[in-house]
Amino acid sequence: MKALVLSGGAGTRLRPITYTSAKQLVPVANKPVLFYGLEAIADAEVTDVGIIVGDTAQEIREAVGDGSKQGVDVTYIPQEAPLGLAHAVLIAKDFLGDDPFVMYLGDNFIVGGISGLVDAFRADRPDARILLTRVPNPTSFGVAELDGAGRVVSLEEKPARPKSDLALVGVYLFSPLIHEAVRSISPSRRGELEITDAIQWLIDQGRDVRSTTISGYWKDTGNVTDMLEVNRTVLATLPPGIEGSVDEASEIIGRVRVDAGARVTSSRIVGPAVIGSGTVISDAYIGPFTSISEDCRVEDSEIEYSIVLRGASLVGVRRVEASLIGHNVEVTPAPRHPAAHRLVLGDHSKVQIAS
Ligand code: G1P
Repeated sequence: MKALVLSGGAGTRLRPITYTSAKQLVPVANKPVLFYGLEAIADAEVTDVGIIVGDTAQEIREAVGDGSKQGVDVTYIPQEAPLGLAHAVLIAKDFLGDDPFVMYLGDNFIVGGISGLVDAFRADRPDARILLTRVPNPTSFGVAELDGAGRVVSLEEKPARPKSDLALVGVYLFSPLIHEAVRSISPSRRGELEITDAIQWLIDQGRDVRSTTISGYWKDTGNVTDMLEVNRTVLATLPPGIEGSVDEASEIIGRVRVDAGARVTSSRIVGPAVIGSGTVISDAYIGPFTSISEDCRVEDSEIEYSIVLRGASLVGVRRVEASLIGHNVEVTPAPRHPAAHRLVLGDHSKVQIAS
């Protein structure tokens, strides 16, 4: 059994963060989303992993390397353009050979991992097994229609009029028959080879396509709201630990991890929260569900329910919440007079100002 992890894509909904960083590398509790997926694959005892990379190939390679830190053995497979999930399978044929495989979308986050699912597939060997979950907004996903016996009858990619509220989760299990399917379909209206069409082809051929409906799945992390929500969920289970320095004037409440090399002075941190190494927190309030990455500075400021990426600083600002702050961003107050906002925002930035 092998794994195919998709880590290309432009990440347009996470702009401007994704102008300079792959969406799969945005950290959740200070660890890239993609690493959770690779670790879930390793836990399922699948070690031969192909990673499909696109424009952000170099960054993904630098972060993941040979995969040994996540317990997997990685082969990189470049995709020249984001031509669809089924196209990714098409170009991975040499790597996959005739092995069954799990396909995992690198920006998806599955609470509880995939071991149970992979074991079930190993035991009953259908032609494909898909994962489904009920969502309030099926038009944003691939949508499955099941018959009375729970068999998959049809699949549609982002339908205007969904036939159910069962969305396809970004983990799929395939027998090698999928290679014939991806060769047999044509590009969709959006010009991509859709994996939903390939699975529909299997169904139309009378093949054995099964589904598992799960609860507790956590969306794809393609947008800021979902990202903050996943961060909240993961932080809530984080083992606390103070390895960095915290002075006597500071107060740490609840589940908080302060990594070695971080320094906290005259501050109040209410967990769950994580503070990365090299980060300095002084005269500040860090509220619940906040991840501050490495080498940041939070001084005379208040922040909660947010993710702050490496090297960013907040000095003299209150109060920041529900925010995703990019690498090396500087947030400071404007001069008091005139009372005005001064902004230097990259393309596609989103800013909400209290006024
Ligand atoms: C992709 C799939 C879709 C699936 C979703 C899950 O969509 O095409 O069928 O429901 O992942 O994350 P995308 O995130 O590429 O828009």
